[in-house]
Amino acid sequence: MIYTKILGTGSYVPSHVVTNTDLEKIVETSDAWIRSRTGIESRRISVDEQTSDLAYEAAIRAIEDAQIDPETIDLLIVATVTADHPFPGVSQMLQRRLNLKPLTAFDINAACTGFVYALNIADKMIMSGAFHRALIIGAETLSKITDFEDRNTCVLFADGAGAMVLGTSEVPQIKQVVTYAKGDLEHLLLMDGYPLKKDLKTPDFKLPFIQMQGAEVFKFASSVLPTVVNELLEKSGHTLEDIDLIVAHQANLRIIDKASRILKFPLEKMYTNIDRYGNTSAASVPLAIDEAIREGKLKKGDLFITVAFGAGLTWGGAIIEY
Ligand code: UT7
Repeated sequence: MIYTKILGTGSYVPSHVVTNTDLEKIVETSDAWIRSRTGIESRRISVDEQTSDLAYEAAIRAIEDAQIDPETIDLLIVATVTADHPFPGVSQMLQRRLNLKPLTAFDINAACTGFVYALNIADKMIMSGAFHRALIIGAETLSKITDFEDRNTCVLFADGAGAMVLGTSEVPQIKQVVTYAKGDLEHLLLMDGYPLKKDLKTPDFKLPFIQMQGAEVFKFASSVLPTVVNELLEKSGHTLEDIDLIVAHQANLRIIDKASRILKFPLEKMYTNIDRYGNTSAASVPLAIDEAIREGKLKKGDLFITVAFGAGLTWGGAIIEY
């Protein structure tokens, strides 16, 4: 039986810091509101780097960390809702920039759950025996699709990237991965696309932005996070006592805090970096995992759970021995 393990991780954020005080000058908000309602203090906003640039930097770091020959990568998946272009995909652009051999490379869209979807797909493709080494990335420039006149969303979303190299293992280090989607609540979090061209005429077209019914999404996220943790524990035969760290999607500190109380799991074992980065959608989970490793909060041999949730609505998670 072939299993999957993490060989290396990397992450990258743009250098431009936007503080809550900066946003006070743009929309009717306050540093106090943003901190107390979300836990965000600042975020990174890209000035001149596209999603592929952020993804490239994160990928380089993950490959270096894995200490592998990039030639051995045979699968590349990029999770993003903010690709540079509708096509080609960021994954195909990276094949060239990273000088990888011709390989299976594709983008996926599962919004904020995108990285967990990429992990699930890569895990199963490696376990099938058809692929041996995968580079999976979550990368976003959400600032491109954020309306900086909408205080409901512009204080939350930001830019960043995280990457992971996966390889084969004789023991199951990625123990369980689950992913789900249920479309009946799709209206809670969405972005309009291109309009259809009735009568073959180009209609007036206003740039679309992220629209979110925050309080409703909050309810969904707060209930799904502990549910996924319990599902993963049950499926893997572990208990919460075995878990060294939970790395949840960084959407709101209050969601993480609530999950810690529901699960009766110590808040200090729930990793957070939302204060510095805000919500970076598909980049959030791999960025948080990479930082947890660099900060020594996740060590070789530790057992951790990651959980993500977002537009779709989508959700999922994984239990992994690092
Ligand atoms: O990544 C995908 C998943 N996304 C999420 O999980 C996000 C989930 N939702 C949330 O994190 C929270 O719902 C928000 C942070 C988006 C909003 O927090 P909330 O406590 O749920 O606020 P609310 O939407 O219920 O609004 C409460 C009040 C409203 O004013 P009124 O109607 O009570 O007068 C809003 O207009 O807060 C107001 N408000 C703001 N005030 C200052 C909303 N945004 C802001 C703001 N600054 N930026």
